Amino acid sequence: MTRILLLGGTTEASALAKTLAETGADAVFSYAGRTAKPVSQPLPTRVGGFGGTDGLAGYLKAEGITHVVDATHPFAEQMSTNAVHACNAAGVPLCAFERPVWQAGDGDTWIHAGSIEGAVDALPDAPARVFLAIGKQNLSQFAAKPQHHYLLRLVDTPEADLPLPSTTVEIARGPFDVQGDTALMQRHGITHVVAKNAGGTGAAAKLTAARDLGLPVIMIGRPEVPERPVMGSVAEVMAWLAHPAN
Ligand SMILES: NC(=O)c1ccc[n+]([C@@H]2O[C@H](COP(=O)([O-])OP(=O)(O)OC[C@H]3O[C@@H](n4cnc5c(N)ncnc54)[C@H](OP(=O)(O)O)[C@@H]3O)[C@@H](O)[C@H]2O)c1
Repeated sequence: MTRILLLGGTTEASALAKTLAETGADAVFSYAGRTAKPVSQPLPTRVGGFGGTDGLAGYLKAEGITHVVDATHPFAEQMSTNAVHACNAAGVPLCAFERPVWQAGDGDTWIHAGSIEGAVDALPDAPARVFLAIGKQNLSQFAAKPQHHYLLRLVDTPEADLPLPSTTVEIARGPFDVQGDTALMQRHGITHVVAKNAGGTGAAAKLTAARDLGLPVIMIGRPEVPERPVMGSVAEVMAWLAHPAN
């Protein structure tokens, strides 16, 4: 009997959940619990961490999980690393469902950064107006450049004070479109965009808007996670679930 754990938090995970539900698969959807009102899923859903690698290995055993699909965000480095180690320990096959990285095209001005620190360094010294499109984590690192005004786009209203002295907060949940993102950047007089190379379509509009407005994008590269088989579509994941190759 197949019983799947789907690690979610992305548009891809929601698309896979829909197909799994339609095919009557026995699957559990897992959210970290970072947002106040996560998108509801057509699968039984659990919320919250597992308690590290050992906690996840224990969960796999207790729940009789036979396959794990890691469809977390490409920057969810800790969860993806834990999943590889826990699945190895428990002898449960794992695959990642990941979208390809975004590539710069004609007209793009991208400054590549290897990390959040690299992105902070890449910002100018003179005061700028920065669209910091990286979610709510890692904001404190940008306090090293307090001279800038930061536009933040967040899913939930922040509960605590933000670690940056000059901010505007826009509450919104993707997917976003080019027209809206262009208007947003114009309204706030944005001069620089900072983005994580998430890939996919839901958050790509800001890159097209930046290109159209002639703005530089500081693009943060993905963190490395231990090797695992990577699927690029719902169909590939479904085929892998039928015949896990590892
Ligand atoms: N990082 C981003 O930029 C980003 C953007 C959009 C969405 N997300 C989503 O937000 C969630 C958290 O991201 P993050 O960057 O904080 O991850 P992370 O740093 O890799 O994970 C930190 C801890 O959160 C728990 N966790 C993460 N994802 C989980 C999941 N799907 N189900 C259960 N527990 C989970 C795990 O706790 P335990 O060790 O206790 O198991 C994990 O060790 C992920 O599900 C991700 O898909 C992240």
